[in-house]
Amino acid sequence: MEKKDLKPVRLDGKVDELAPGLSRRSFFMAAGAAGVGTATSLLGTTDAKAQSTDWTQPGNNNHVIELQNKTAFSEGAVGIDYYGHCAFKITSPGGASIMVDPWRDDPSGAWGLWFKQKFAETPVDITMSTHTHFDHDAIDRPVSTMVLDRMVGTFEFADLKITGFADKHACVAPGWYNWTNALKEFGVEACAPNNVGHMDMVVYVIETGGIRTLIWGDNRPDPAPEFWDAIGQIDVLTIPVDGSQHILSYEQADAIVDKLKPKVVIPTHYLNETTTYTLSTLAPADEWVKAQKSYKMLDSANMQLDTAEISGMNKEFMYFGHNAQTT
Ligand SMILES: [Fe+2]
Ligand SMILES: [Fe+2]
Repeated sequence: MEKKDLKPVRLDGKVDELAPGLSRRSFFMAAGAAGVGTATSLLGTTDAKAQSTDWTQPGNNNHVIELQNKTAFSEGAVGIDYYGHCAFKITSPGGASIMVDPWRDDPSGAWGLWFKQKFAETPVDITMSTHTHFDHDAIDRPVSTMVLDRMVGTFEFADLKITGFADKHACVAPGWYNWTNALKEFGVEACAPNNVGHMDMVVYVIETGGIRTLIWGDNRPDPAPEFWDAIGQIDVLTIPVDGSQHILSYEQADAIVDKLKPKVVIPTHYLNETTTYTLSTLAPADEWVKAQKSYKMLDSANMQLDTAEISGMNKEFMYFGHNAQTT
């Protein structure tokens, strides 16, 4: 490729020269992959900007080096801080921190405004993302030393063990909003095995402080039997359920909870008014939570869990409601 071929493509409806080798159709597909774009976004006024700004981030890796040099870690509680949507900061008893699924608005503009602010530039040791959809992949926003984007396999650091299991995104919208139908309009398939790449998913199990937390992401409700065997016993389940049943239906989510029998269930991917606009089409998860045998409406975005506290729990729903950490 010659240098002249490397010029960036600007998409503002006026300058629409496509890069060599990129047909209008393939460009259209690429926009779809970024968040299921529409013709409106391509001809509209919003540029798609997705470049990482990590090289400008403040701080450095001193905390990671400190953890790396430790040979013993204190026992104690695991911190779970909710940042809205599917984003959590999980902090190990030894002080190692992970941010999972930081969110942003769709860079193509096709899906409109979902979030009320930019994701907080929170200092953490590790940033992780389950898949490439805009509401899960703002991996440049947390101020972190490590980025484990769609990591499959096992990673161990400090008093953390993280395992990523490759699976597939939910591909049939169970609620009123048939968002998965949009993929057909781009000529791609939503469902396995020939799904478009952005419908791939990685589910994480984060083990620390004796607690195994499952990050469901937007995974399908019916993974293969090997998936269930591999993930094993789960103590804390995070699962995407909202009143519009955007990713999972109530019944699908109930079936997952019944199968995994976690001690604690934390709803995600719902309308949290601190972070999320109604334009997202999401709704609160209150209805689903209040239909459960035992639940707690949390009054902050922060909680600490330890093995002694959760040992007697059985499918205890802990709902963050409209609480979310924004700094
Ligand atoms: Fe998704
Ligand atoms: Fe999502």
